[in-house]
Parts: sequence; C-alpha cells; structure tokens
Amino acid sequence: MKRALTPGTFDPITSGHLDVITRAAQLVDEVVVAVAASPKKRPLFTLEERTDLVRQATAHLPNVRVEPFDELLVTFAEKLGATVVVKGLRAITDFEYEFQMTAINYQLNSALETLFIMSPPQYMYLSSSVVREIASLHGDVEQFVPPCVRDALARKFAE
Ligand code: COA
Repeated sequence: MKRALTPGTFDPITSGHLDVITRAAQLVDEVVVAVAASPKKRPLFTLEERTDLVRQATAHLPNVRVEPFDELLVTFAEKLGATVVVKGLRAITDFEYEFQMTAINYQLNSALETLFIMSPPQYMYLSSSVVREIASLHGDVEQFVPPCVRDALARKFAE
C-alpha cells in the first residue's frame, strides 16, 4: 500500500490545502494529513481544533485520515509507514523555503520522497494567515475555506 503524508500547520485548513489533499488522494492508496503542533507559530486554533477541522473538511474523502504530530516529519512518516510527502507549491516564493525543507528531510531520511503539486490559479495566493486576517476584520471567507472553517472562524472572532 502506497501511503503519503500531507503535512502542515493548517491554522486553519483552506480550500488550497483541500485541493492538494484531494489531488494526493487520487495518486496513492492512503493519505494521512499530518497536522503539526507548530508551537513556534503560536497558532490561532489549538492542535485539537485544527485536527478536528481538517477531519470535518476531508470527511468525504474515503482514503484520507488525519493525525496530529509533534515530532520530526521524517520520524512521524517512519512510524506511519508513509513513503511519500506531498506538498502544495504556490507562487515561486514558496520554492526557496520548500527547497530547504526537502533537502533537510532527504538528509534525515533519503528514502522519504517529496512530491509537489502545483496549486491552481485560484489558490496561488491563498494562505491561512490571509484567511485569519480577513476573518479577524469580519470579512467573508466563504470562497477561501470549507464551511466548517468559516463557522469556526466566526465563532473564534466573536469570542
Ligand atoms: N494552499 C494554501 N495555503 C498553503 C498551501 C496551499 N497549498 N501550502 C502552504 N500554504 C500556506 C499555509 O496556509 C501557511 O500560511 P501562513 O503561514 O500564511 O499562515 C504557510 O503556507 C505555511 O504552511 P504551514 O502549514 O505552516 O507549512 P510549512 O510549509 O511551514 O511546514 C511542516 C509545516 C509541518 C511541514 C513543517 O514545519 C514540519 O515538517 N514540521 C515538523 C518538524 C520538522 O520535521 N522539521 C524539520 C523540517 S526541515
């Protein structure tokens, strides 16, 4: 069985992330969406909230499951028996950073392959921080996120 990891902080999951996960699910037998604790990023949503939102947003995809993690990506991949990491590549500005992460992951475990899926034009400039900013200013994020995330953001910024 070919198992892939799609890792990220998902603070929160956007339609761009969902597009990558959906495409990855068509390429392998099983996709595990790995939700990183990423404490340095001081996420808006807790790890539990982020994991739960990814679970809701991917519930319609039968070969996708969601797991939180708080360790090296290569270690988590080994534990799960995943042999591929799939990431989205948006604008050229992503390249340098992704290039560095991929190189380090290869250094840590050369057997773990990294694949990049180009984002379609409508998601090229989408990011979780843009979504958080719009929601914090009470703008409508409907076109950028799944409905469960829109509701969660509305609740978060009503607090
Ligand atoms: N669509 C929309 N947005 C996307 C996107 C896509 N396809 N791909 C990335 N993004 C955005 C995210 O929304 C986020 O936006 P923001 O920072 O403006 O909020 C940004 O790109 C960064 O994404 P993030 O999910 O934080 O991922 P990352 O590329 O920084 O990496 C991990 C996160 C979990 C993969 C990485 O930190 C990791 O591997 N951590 C484990 C520890 C480890 O192994 N470290 C060594 C690796 S070198």
